[in-house]
Amino acid sequence: MAHRIVGIVLVLSAGVLAWAMIRAFGSKPGPIPEEAASGQPQNIFEFERERARRTNLAGRLGDDDGFVAVVFFGGEIMGNLEVCGCPKNPLGGVARRQGYVRLFAERYPDVPFLQVDTGYFFSDRIHPMTGDLTEDARVGNEWVIRAYDHMKLDVVNVSYHDLPQLARCLRPEEFRRHAKETPVVTRFLSANVVAGETRRPSLPPYVIRELSGGRLAGRRLRLAFIGVTEAGGYRGRDFLVRDPVTAVRQLLPRVRARADMIVVLAYLPQELVERLARENPDVDVILASVGRPLWLPPTTIGRTYIAYSTYQTKLLGELRLYLHERGGGKRVLARYIELDGLIPDEPSTEALRAAARRELAAVQRRLAERAMADASRPLRTPSEEGATFVGSRACHSCHSEAYAIWTASGHARAFATLQKAKRENDPQCLGCHVTGYEQPGGFLTVFSTPRLKDVQCEACHGPASRHLEDPTRPYGKVGIPEGCLPCHTRENSPDFEPVSYWAKIKH
Ligand code: HEC
Ligand code: HEC
Ligand code: HEC
Ligand code: HEC
Repeated sequence: MAHRIVGIVLVLSAGVLAWAMIRAFGSKPGPIPEEAASGQPQNIFEFERERARRTNLAGRLGDDDGFVAVVFFGGEIMGNLEVCGCPKNPLGGVARRQGYVRLFAERYPDVPFLQVDTGYFFSDRIHPMTGDLTEDARVGNEWVIRAYDHMKLDVVNVSYHDLPQLARCLRPEEFRRHAKETPVVTRFLSANVVAGETRRPSLPPYVIRELSGGRLAGRRLRLAFIGVTEAGGYRGRDFLVRDPVTAVRQLLPRVRARADMIVVLAYLPQELVERLARENPDVDVILASVGRPLWLPPTTIGRTYIAYSTYQTKLLGELRLYLHERGGGKRVLARYIELDGLIPDEPSTEALRAAARRELAAVQRRLAERAMADASRPLRTPSEEGATFVGSRACHSCHSEAYAIWTASGHARAFATLQKAKRENDPQCLGCHVTGYEQPGGFLTVFSTPRLKDVQCEACHGPASRHLEDPTRPYGKVGIPEGCLPCHTRENSPDFEPVSYWAKIKH
């Protein structure tokens, strides 16, 4: 029996997410959730804010509206078990995610649930010289496997970003070890990633999970999960990525008869998610990740219900399943739980996260020290005609006023901020807190290039060696906000607004 669609309940933050929504929709808001349309606030943004006022745990756990089972969904943690490093209202992290799941299990002991991931759970940070995953990425990815195993994830969809690490996991001896120690690897899934030249074993294209007990009474609910990804930037030889829409179409006849509900886990751009729904009307639900820090509201195409996981799983998706059709023939409903400080950490997952952090900090420090030892053989050198970074002190003599303003600004202390957070060797954080990170002649590590820490003049104006040689040559035009946005992103600077921000550092 086909299970039908949807009503929509959203729990959103007024902070990060509202900014994301406004940027995402501009003047054209997404479909208005039914409850908003019928209830008091007519405007979707007001509706979200209204919801966000539910500031207690009971509110987060939601109303008991008779749902019988749940699929929790997240995605795009990108090798990171931490709460996001964003300054305002930090969200996410595996410990809170599991903290919520535990609260849920206590509040609804008779509701069976599954936990799934839509993809991009591994870091795919590549070393510029070796072309292989960086050592800290590999260490972090092993911790993701341990964490997902500990959290007992039921289905994990492989995205193209996950393939470099997956190629390692699928080496026969590695796979045997993982299957024994961390069997979550046997729950990795993909219908359109297939073995390439190196003949790695293929992943299962789909899996059927049966839910029973509790509110399901005597019934069994069979959920088929199919996983797909776009090919994206994958250039490796270990796998081939086939067309995702075709892959799903070819599987459906086999899966349909064996399941009560078909759920596709998709790591795809929005256009492809929608095409997948249009061309495969048999699919009941798509849980998708669009690979961008955008938040998209659930929608329905034909009778396929589509819900998107949030970037870095800052909000945990909760897909509620109902036995009987709700108003308008609906059988599922997505909620989003903001993983902020209100949600307590699950202690054993938190202990695992902390152990991961300790090992990663040690590895990253060792890598940074090694880079210093190698400093005689710099990783990247300035191009022939290119200027190099000279550091702010060189500007002081001629631009003393600008220099004084900069010294007093947060930009001059941006590296200390990372030191305080004990992340000063972490490539995930360095990019915006130093000068010329990974650019020719720019910051490499605090050991080898200490004078380029912090957001110095040249982080905005560009390398200045040529300007020092001849100050009359045109140099250093910076646009506002274009020059700010690479660092002042929606993620890391949710309150950014060009006029007031520039006013604080005007020189
Ligand atoms: C030897 C003196 C000297 C030093 C050192 C120097 N500048 Fe300049 N800078 C000048 C002069 C002179 C101008 C041109 C001013 C003008 O045309 O009004 C200038 C102009 C600029 C401009 C404006 C360019 C424009 O077209 O409006 C920027 C930005 C700038 N400098 C940045 C820097 C930075 C960053 C440093 C340090 C890395 C630096 N300068 C070091 C002398 C210097
Ligand atoms: C994409 C750029 C970017 C990345 C990557 C980044 N940051 Fe930041 N960070 C910023 C910006 C911009 C601000 C200033 C935000 C504001 O005031 O609006 C900031 C501010 C902060 C602050 C608050 C500083 C203060 O005292 O107000 C902390 C703490 C911080 N970052 C830590 C981190 C950590 C830890 C990481 C790595 C996990 C990280 N950042 C990665 C851009 C970034
Ligand atoms: C956060 C980015 C940023 C940093 C850091 C920064 N600047 Fe600028 N600077 C700008 C922008 C943006 C403008 C242009 C403003 C405009 O067009 O009105 C500017 C303008 C200038 C000018 C031209 C001023 C004029 O009167 O036309 C000079 C000179 C200059 N900066 C020097 C420096 C020096 C020296 C430092 C470091 C001590 C520095 N800047 C640090 C963003 C930055
Ligand atoms: C290379 C990355 C980078 C660029 C480019 C950048 N910022 Fe920042 N900005 C940061 C970081 C990191 C912080 C947080 C510093 C800290 O640790 O406190 C910050 C903080 C700030 C702050 C708050 C700190 C203070 O001094 O009050 C303002 C305001 C600001 N930036 C304005 C701007 C503007 C305006 C531009 C563009 C002209 C700009 N920034 C470009 C990285 C950047």
